[in-house]
Amino acid sequence: MRIDILTLFPELFDGPFGYSIVKRTVDKGLIQIQLHNIRDYSTNKHKAVDDYPFGGGAGMVMQIEPIFNCITKLKEERTYDEVIYLSPDGELFDQPMANNLSGAKNLILLCGHYKGVDERVRQYLITKEISIGSYVLTGGELAAAVVVDAVARLIPGAIGDEQSALSDSFQDGLISPPVYTRPANFNGWEVPAILLSGHQAKIDAWRHGQSILRTQLKRPDLLGDDGDVN
Ligand code: ADE
Repeated sequence: MRIDILTLFPELFDGPFGYSIVKRTVDKGLIQIQLHNIRDYSTNKHKAVDDYPFGGGAGMVMQIEPIFNCITKLKEERTYDEVIYLSPDGELFDQPMANNLSGAKNLILLCGHYKGVDERVRQYLITKEISIGSYVLTGGELAAAVVVDAVARLIPGAIGDEQSALSDSFQDGLISPPVYTRPANFNGWEVPAILLSGHQAKIDAWRHGQSILRTQLKRPDLLGDDGDVN
């Protein structure tokens, strides 16, 4: 899988992509992440990428030309499954969307800044808009990093134990059950006895019950109106 990220601040990704599973997935060649500085595609002699909004008002607007130049060049080289714009008013990102995107071959992620991009970018160049939550970040970079992280760990081979990604919270519409490790007794705080019993079928049933209970308690919105598992 290949992900091209268009940004004004490529350095912002050094941290999120430089460690742990995302880095290992890149190192294994399972995912290729290419950062493109939108400024490099400006034909303006000052390398400007933004301008005042037509009609007046506060803030600057990212111009279409450098974004168009970058996307056009990339599209000449390969076909993209989606050209995604990260925006607070996009479709809310969730696990099913991450699952879907992890099946893509090539993706473009466009990070906005200032007041956002010229509307014609969204009209003519973007195929999907994603929000990571109902709050406004200073730019799309952190949102893009969240999307890449959630997608990268789903690529087969990214996580050592394949089962681990499948048993994540949300994969079956439920919150994960609690987990424990050694010591079985810490300061008198004990691990549930069932987990030490060795009865795998009973352990699985207990875990499933805990998942349902936790979901009812913490995220009832994931359950149907009647509180049942969907
Ligand atoms: N850019 C600014 N805020 C954002 C958000 N909440 N989600 C995605 N992109 C954004």
